[in-house]
Amino acid sequence: LRHGAMRREVTRQAARGDLGARIITDPEAVRDPYPSYEALRAQGRLVRSALTWSTVDHEISTAVLRSPDFCVGMRMPENAPTLLQMVLRAGGRWPLGPVEPPSLLAIDPPDHNRIRKLVTRSFSAKAIARLRGRTEQVAAELLDEMESHAGADRRVDLMTRYASLLPATVIAEMLGAPVSMREQFLEWGEGGAYSLDMGLSYPMFRKSEKDIDALSDWMSGHFEYLRRHPNDSILSSLVQAYDADEGRLSSDELLSLGLLLLAAGFETTVNLIGNGTKLLLAHPDQAARLRDDPSLWPNAVDEILRLDSPVQRTGRVAARDTEVCGYPISRGALVLTHLGGANRDPEVFPEPDRFDVGRDGADKHVAFSQGIHYCLGAALAKMEGEVGLRALFDRYPDLAADGPAELRGTRVLRGYRSLPVRLGKAR
Ligand code: HEM
Repeated sequence: LRHGAMRREVTRQAARGDLGARIITDPEAVRDPYPSYEALRAQGRLVRSALTWSTVDHEISTAVLRSPDFCVGMRMPENAPTLLQMVLRAGGRWPLGPVEPPSLLAIDPPDHNRIRKLVTRSFSAKAIARLRGRTEQVAAELLDEMESHAGADRRVDLMTRYASLLPATVIAEMLGAPVSMREQFLEWGEGGAYSLDMGLSYPMFRKSEKDIDALSDWMSGHFEYLRRHPNDSILSSLVQAYDADEGRLSSDELLSLGLLLLAAGFETTVNLIGNGTKLLLAHPDQAARLRDDPSLWPNAVDEILRLDSPVQRTGRVAARDTEVCGYPISRGALVLTHLGGANRDPEVFPEPDRFDVGRDGADKHVAFSQGIHYCLGAALAKMEGEVGLRALFDRYPDLAADGPAELRGTRVLRGYRSLPVRLGKAR
């Protein structure tokens, strides 16, 4: 019932021409969100609608995401606009879902710092650099396996055979979750990905509830296992920290953190590898530049993150009356920052729709957000993207698209469910 009310309200506003609502409901915007961002840009830098404020402006997005005047807690201030309160409260509730407290993504300081600092060191650039060799090995093994599935016709689905398995394997090994369950994690993660979207269809809503419950049950059982068989993995160290000092972390915080690390670890990076492959196949001149000058790979990964961002938007609620780049915002207002649109802001990225692996300033993108919620896994994702794409294009110089790709159908996360390719000769 609550789910229905939410969907009806968003759809009604979209039908009235509310661009903010249209971006999150229009089926066309799932296929290609970029024209709707340009329509928004034409309306202004920060556009007010019945439900929210929306922006595709790079400077404003950055200012909102970095501002201490904005929060993520969905505890609505008393005087929040009634319609917004209604919509947020009408939304489904996914206990322990990625956008529900106590997920890191949905809590504010001081709780946010207390929890995030438990895992910062494990995801630092230095810690991630140590995983590069192993990631290269995993990529090579997966390419071998993909090759055996391709058979004589050399045709294969890149998403299921490679792009999803690389991040799922790496994060499972890193956290101390069984790699043998990676396909099951990916399946459960799909429902987690749906839960980020507003205005879900009922079947998607039900799947997200079921998948998040199943993953939570599995994680609780795994924590019990790690209590009996401690090891030096990240999950085991979190369980030990919890057991050693119960006041530091609540049991829900422990569970939510484990779930977020696992799901965020593969849900987004799969799209980086998929979207990157799609772009490079559509622009053979850019793939050729990378073959001639492999030192461009790190920049190419930033350019892929910029041009087809795996996470298309996030949002913040004003914690008090405030002002952003001259726009007054009232306490309780929800501002949607469309990261995928900010990454095509022509003020920051000249000829923003052009794919240029050598682009100066490609790394100014906000694909990993900004401020205190800046992606914890950014260094890991970039390393995996670089290793994964480079291994693929180095081994298969004639890699080619083999029929239409199918999108996942999610809105916040943008990526492909299947990407049929023909491998060509292996090097
Ligand atoms: C947060 C994007 C990969 C873990 C975020 C946010 C974005 C993002 C946009 C912040 C959302 C907001 O400000 O509301 C991405 C992209 C990735 C990626 C585009 C891949 C290309 C990863 C990986 C991990 C990870 C590999 C590994 C565990 C997290 C966590 C947070 C987060 C734990 C929450 C941080 C916080 O709230 O303090 N990510 N991410 N991400 N990401 Fe990533």
